[in-house]
Amino acid sequence: MDRIVIQGGARLNGTIGISGAKNSALKLMAAALLTDETVVLENMPRLADSRYMAQLMARLGVQIEEGPGSRMTLDAGTITGVFASYDLVRKMRATFNVLGPLLAREGRAKVSLPGGCAIGARPVDLHLKALEALGAQIELSEGYVIAEAPKGGLVGGEIDLPFASVGATEHAMLAASLARGETVIENAAREPELADLGEMLTSMGALVEGAGTSTVKIQGQKSLSGVTHSVVPDRIETATYAIAVAAAGGDVTLTGIRPDHNKSLWHALSEAGVSVETGTDTVRIMRKADKLKAVDIETQPFPGFPTDAQAQFMALMALADGASVIRETIFENRFMHAPELARLGADISVHGNEAIVRGVDALRGAPVMATDLRASVSLVIAGLAAEGETVVNRVYHLDRGFERLEAKLAGCGAQIERRSD
Ligand code: UD1
Repeated sequence: MDRIVIQGGARLNGTIGISGAKNSALKLMAAALLTDETVVLENMPRLADSRYMAQLMARLGVQIEEGPGSRMTLDAGTITGVFASYDLVRKMRATFNVLGPLLAREGRAKVSLPGGCAIGARPVDLHLKALEALGAQIELSEGYVIAEAPKGGLVGGEIDLPFASVGATEHAMLAASLARGETVIENAAREPELADLGEMLTSMGALVEGAGTSTVKIQGQKSLSGVTHSVVPDRIETATYAIAVAAAGGDVTLTGIRPDHNKSLWHALSEAGVSVETGTDTVRIMRKADKLKAVDIETQPFPGFPTDAQAQFMALMALADGASVIRETIFENRFMHAPELARLGADISVHGNEAIVRGVDALRGAPVMATDLRASVSLVIAGLAAEGETVVNRVYHLDRGFERLEAKLAGCGAQIERRSD
């Protein structure tokens, strides 16, 4: 099994190009099921997760071509199946989002319930309520969701989400685009990935208003057309490299980004004493000072501090001067990186959804185990800042969501390599 080996202590200097957003790309792929015309996605990240999604889409009859470069072409001219099995949905939760598009286009679908995952229970009740509001009949049987649209197809409806769930908002938008009449989603999630999906659905012919705000209105269409769309830059990959530079020290410019998508992080990094200079589509991160200041953060839906950057920020705070309180409000079990960071010498105590990180003078390399995608990259960040060798095991977690991670970091002077023996 692959592992990543890091010799810590090297400062990072140079430029890193940021890829398209994984979390957006997966839902944009699902949107290709809504049309019988060709969909071209540019700026697609090449990741294990997009491969899983492509595997599932191929089983549904979608023709997929990858390349040249970061392009993916999807053709759902004929859908040959409406079934998504447990073996695929279990591997990657976002595959669950094919349910709505299949239901909207084919009138029925059978998709496995995703089940929980390492960071929490992650139910899909809000996804199902949203589809029911569009007229779907839903039955749960033997771990599967069996959904059926009314005779004339899905109909627009009012959806009021009790929590601004990203996945449920996306699911509602996808299905509503092919539903008859208007759908209004209240308390919609406002993450930039929603605006990206709204832009693509609009280019396909659905009339979408307010995507990326808390009220989204969609006039569904009988059919949607093909589209060429460029995936929004990955704000979590951006955050990860920005924090890595802050932790290891150095001067790195991240390119191809949307600086306005990471304002809460820029604020936290500046408070910690890191220099953040944003340009039109770049950010320059510089850490010159020896000591970082401790900063408290609380994860919140966008535009608050992203839960997907919480683990990385905890690694940074492990080296700050003083104590930092990190509160996780989105997922109930998202501190599994804390004991692994402790193996490198971090002083972290966890009480419920709160972690207190008392900064230490130095971290020391050790073998560590990745538990989930963002947790694993926090261990890489800590390894870059630590003295000596850190070995991150279970690298498959990283491969789910970071494109060419070792190459991007090594390009800036990090001593990092992948070993397969
Ligand atoms: C997406 C992102 C994930 C990110 C999260 C929050 C993808 C592939 N994943 O996940 O990286 O961390 O947004 O920004 O885009 N919930 C319910 N019932 C539901 C749906 C959600 O109770 O039907 C709860 C979840 O258990 C969780 C919270 O709501 O505690 C947030 O979940 P949600 O916003 O839906 O996140 P995801 O779409 O799963």
